[in-house]
Amino acid sequence: MSRSIYIPEQWYPIEEARKVTRSKPHRIKRLGMELVLWRGTDNKVRVHHAACPHRGADLGLGTINKERGCIVCPYHGFEFHEGGHCTHMPCEGKGAKIRKDLKLELFQVREEQDLIWLWYGDTEPTEELPFFKDRNLEEKRTEAITTFAWPVSFTRVIEGMLDIHHLPFAHGKYVWGVGPLLDPYEATIEKGCIVQSKGTLRYPEKESGFTTELDLYFPGMLYLKLGASVYAGVYMCPVDEQNTWGYISYHQTSLTLPWVGKWFTRVMLWFEMTFVQHDDRRLLLSSEPQMVDIRDDRLVHADKAIALWYKLRAQALESAQKTDG
Ligand code: FES
Ligand SMILES: [Fe+2]
Repeated sequence: MSRSIYIPEQWYPIEEARKVTRSKPHRIKRLGMELVLWRGTDNKVRVHHAACPHRGADLGLGTINKERGCIVCPYHGFEFHEGGHCTHMPCEGKGAKIRKDLKLELFQVREEQDLIWLWYGDTEPTEELPFFKDRNLEEKRTEAITTFAWPVSFTRVIEGMLDIHHLPFAHGKYVWGVGPLLDPYEATIEKGCIVQSKGTLRYPEKESGFTTELDLYFPGMLYLKLGASVYAGVYMCPVDEQNTWGYISYHQTSLTLPWVGKWFTRVMLWFEMTFVQHDDRRLLLSSEPQMVDIRDDRLVHADKAIALWYKLRAQALESAQKTDG
């Protein structure tokens, strides 16, 4: 595995589980890799590189044979079983000896929180997936879902997500009465993998203000609590060096009546994505350099959560290097 900008030895959320079926290959790009996803006869998800091990054709253009539990290459019709090995080469006839290295390398994957998670690393995957199990994100009553794909690097997106004090400036036309001073503000690392932060934006002359909690489960799952009644989970994964994919599970507790509550959350999320996140996207896109390193930034106290995320990133890169020998 190439030691590139992606943080290795991590679980990444790569796709919505509902997008992956037993009837056709689903093609995506994540972590700089072209991938194909499909479900086998046991309904479990298989993920492998899109390039056919024979001569590289895109298996995403192929078909699934549900009876035989295999993916069929569109170029020469080779069949690859859900266990990865090649089971049939039409050009060689039945019973032909199949070379051992003609097989799919299957990634280790898990399906949880309506998402497919991929282990990006050479070591054994960790038991725990990097998301907050205890934060009510499975509450479906008022949940609204969306995904985004931004032409912004993973690190810049993370910076943007962990930033509280941009609110009155970047989103000034949508948030009224939110002061510019971030005080009090606290950010810490919990359990060695969670950046926990909480801050109140207020006017210097006032005691109270608007409180936001942003907790990030390393490397890229954010839990945010806005004011008293809105909370969300944002699950992020690099597409490549310049692009990031994300899945948002959005909730509110101010209007929870059946149907109406859900409808209300959807409207709120639509507003958030159309206007608020639109501002974020524009500013993140404008940020230079995109391939940011902590040395490129001049962080201040209000950016402490960002500094802590970079600290975890440095630790993860260092320990991966050590394992690499
Ligand atoms: S390239 Fe896939 S079977 Fe030849
Ligand atoms: Fe924002």
